[in-house]
Amino acid sequence: MKPMDKIILALDFPNLAAAEQCLAQLPELTWVKVGMELFYSEGPQIVRTLKDRGYKVFLDLKLHDIPNTVYSATKSLLGLGADMLNYHVAGGRAMLAAAVQAGTETPGKRPILLGVTQLTSTDQVTLEKEIGITRPLGEVVLAYAQLAKESGLHGVVCSALESRAIKDHCGAEFITVTPGIRLAAEDAQDQKRVVTPKQASASGSDFLVIGRPLTKAAEPAAVWEEIKKQLL
Ligand code: C5P
Repeated sequence: MKPMDKIILALDFPNLAAAEQCLAQLPELTWVKVGMELFYSEGPQIVRTLKDRGYKVFLDLKLHDIPNTVYSATKSLLGLGADMLNYHVAGGRAMLAAAVQAGTETPGKRPILLGVTQLTSTDQVTLEKEIGITRPLGEVVLAYAQLAKESGLHGVVCSALESRAIKDHCGAEFITVTPGIRLAAEDAQDQKRVVTPKQASASGSDFLVIGRPLTKAAEPAAVWEEIKKQLL
């Protein structure tokens, strides 16, 4: 895999038209991430459109429902052409296994199926007082990553700061996909713990999800070159 094939551009835009200027400046881009905002505004066709343009698509819809529904939904999303999907590990082993089964049954596809351990917006207090889990957050993340692996998922979405521990726990081949990337710490915005592309790559992260550093840049092409310098 070429170093820049690790980059997943988070298309956090209200519609495709708003993303065009940024996409036009990134001819080497391989992966895009479509989240709920764009998927719900443009509809499922957005996946086909991006696939027709040659992108690999991470459809970040964080599925969480009963196993049968997740199985069917996974089939629908893979039918659109999604290459990467994700699931709340809190849905449990049977739900995750249903997703994996749908993945293996879809002809001609080798989708990457990921778990979401705990949202980065969840802190220890929320975990204990609202979700009702009293174990330390770090321990829960590792236990959920382990459950994802045992259920047949290929990896998890996590902070690059957790990548190493997750790989130590689940094995080097277990994929980590990491958001919270910034070229300079002072541009963190609402991300609490950020790392540079170089640090994320050194920590073993397989894919780096990058949004605002590219999407809000006056010159996305220049930022792309800077990221490239760090990864080569
Ligand atoms: O703009 P920024 O680079 O912060 O975008 C990061 C992307 O990764 C956003 O689409 C955000 O929703 C997503 N994400 C995240 N933290 C997670 C999971 C997903 O920032 N734990």
